[in-house]
Amino acid sequence: MIVTLDGPAGAGKSSAARALASRLGWCHLDTGAMYRAVALVAVERGMPLDDAERLVALAESLAIEFQGERVLVDGRDVSGEIRTERVTQATRPVADSPPVREAMKRIQRRLAAGLDLVTEGRDQGSVVFPLAELKVYLTASPEERARRRQREEQARGVAMSVNDVLQAQARRDEGDRNRPVGAMRPADDAVILETDGLSAAEVVDRLVRLVEERRR
Ligand code: DC
Repeated sequence: MIVTLDGPAGAGKSSAARALASRLGWCHLDTGAMYRAVALVAVERGMPLDDAERLVALAESLAIEFQGERVLVDGRDVSGEIRTERVTQATRPVADSPPVREAMKRIQRRLAAGLDLVTEGRDQGSVVFPLAELKVYLTASPEERARRRQREEQARGVAMSVNDVLQAQARRDEGDRNRPVGAMRPADDAVILETDGLSAAEVVDRLVRLVEERRR
């Protein structure tokens, strides 16, 4: 069975997807980390970020693996590096490129084959897994998402004001919603889950209940 979890940055997707997969004993696919990994290696190799052909070849050549919360690229742990601001910015042109998205769709479908999987991203329910048994669009108010992001950044030792986070978030949301291919949007048959006021544990409980309903 496939469960897709899409939604904007800061909605709590990653922790919810990880916890849900762990509760169910399923695999977890973080597709944002995949785009980030491609962007990281492209930057390291000095590749122009508008060279779709080379980026596609790069995406197809990389062995991206997940070990718990760690992300490995060709066996190298890049979990920290892919979350830096520099890589976050480089990820945008990579994720905006239609040929790269097409390649990522193929790779994500190949990785999912035969698995029970919770996959998170922006387009997992709408584009990559249109036949997924359960599609959830996880969201929260901009203020709530910015507060969560600020706490995460603080935990990584980066101090930002809520206002700065809100502005950066609004820019990212706009980019995510308006990309010509793979734009962030709920699939027509997605369940919308608003997480304002819900604890992480409550979000996971709701997700588990939704999965159980679909399995029946
Ligand atoms: O979820 P995240 O912040 O790690 O995502 C990193 C970037 O990749 C972000 O710009 C959105 C983009 N992305 C995407 O376009 N499609 C996905 N399925 C996942 C992420």
